[in-house]
Amino acid sequence: MDRQSLTARPSTALSGKVRAPGDKSISHRALILSALAVGEGRIDGLLESDDVLATAAAVAAMGAETERLGPGVWRVVGQGGLRQPDGIIDCGNSGTAARLLMGAVAGYPIAVRFDGDESLRGRPMARVSEPLVLMGARVSADRLPLTVGGGGHFGAPLNAVQWTSRNASAQVKSAILLAGLRADGVTSVTEPSASRDHTERMLPLFGVEVQRDGLTAAVGGGQALSATDLSVPGDPSSAAFPLAAALLIPGSRVTVEGVMLNPARTGLFETLVEMGADLTIANRREQGGETVGDITARGSRMRGVEVPPERAASMIDEYPILAALASAAEGPTIMRGLEELRVKESDRIAGTAAMLRACGAIVEEEPAGLIVQGQARAPSGGGRVETHGDHRLAMSALVLGLAASRPVSVDRPDMIATSFPGFVDLMTGLGAQMGPS
Ligand code: S3P
Repeated sequence: MDRQSLTARPSTALSGKVRAPGDKSISHRALILSALAVGEGRIDGLLESDDVLATAAAVAAMGAETERLGPGVWRVVGQGGLRQPDGIIDCGNSGTAARLLMGAVAGYPIAVRFDGDESLRGRPMARVSEPLVLMGARVSADRLPLTVGGGGHFGAPLNAVQWTSRNASAQVKSAILLAGLRADGVTSVTEPSASRDHTERMLPLFGVEVQRDGLTAAVGGGQALSATDLSVPGDPSSAAFPLAAALLIPGSRVTVEGVMLNPARTGLFETLVEMGADLTIANRREQGGETVGDITARGSRMRGVEVPPERAASMIDEYPILAALASAAEGPTIMRGLEELRVKESDRIAGTAAMLRACGAIVEEEPAGLIVQGQARAPSGGGRVETHGDHRLAMSALVLGLAASRPVSVDRPDMIATSFPGFVDLMTGLGAQMGPS
């Protein structure tokens, strides 16, 4: 794809049925747990995005045998643990890769250097290194690049901890639980509100017992993982983009099949229904330990709402696209409790506000919130949006551009491949006017 710029042009009604790409969070975990396990497992529906491929390369560098058998189909042979890699582990843009792998490495007598791109180098890692150091690992810095030296005293088990997280972060929780698998005793993590629980749901599929009680998850150390076959459900965070485009463009009807409906991930859909969106879910079924369904969106007139701050964790990656939708709704949409958005792939509060303004929308920025003044029709468009290398800002701006009266361009469209490599093809297949500028 052209690295320079991508443009979405005003489009008429979208229609069609598409399959959601594999869930990014689950894809990372499938690779990491398979690498920690003993034996061979097959992963179906793996998201082959840049972020997930960074994790695949990392686990291969640390001893797992990985083989791509076909699109989204991978064979992983785990060695029952991680080995010293030869070089640096490059996590690219991926916070999930960095934080989960730091936790996994902490349990082994190895010293691993982690690095990432400019965005990832700026993101806080103390939230992971603090508990890992308390458990007996050594971590050289609070930002990437950093080195994690695993094991209590190189080989001795880590100390179990009872950690209370300041942030509702599944990356922090998962890092501690993965380290806890190699600790002496029961390690627990308590969160201020519920973050996504994919690690807790997937570990039992590998034969590991996980205790859960309200906002606390715990694992006993010394449990071995045995390999298993996994099927990755569709990513609700990616499905959000074609569904949002259908809601914005009158007369549209788009179905996204196989979307994961884990309640820790569906806050956006709940909010959209409150806004009057015509969203229906059919064919609910089980896949890989999660419920999935087919979601249909039709062009809708929506009204602004106040999003409960306690819902933030269940839609944390969806605020940019919600803000884009809110700009076309009737009346204000108030989004608060969003301090975590300041430390995502970019500062997503500032980036979303600037994106909306570049498209002609009215928005106020707060330290931990956004208020969008919906104008009951899509904003004018006509802007070039700076995405700060953030894939979700890019896709949100492009979706808005389809409904606006003038085109919207984004810089750095190559970053879309960190989570949704097939985005442009999928959208144009539905009738969206989108292509290199
Ligand atoms: C993720 C957790 C969330 C989310 C990210 C993926 C995960 O981050 O924003 O895209 O896979 O655990 P935090 O844990 O920082 O909230």
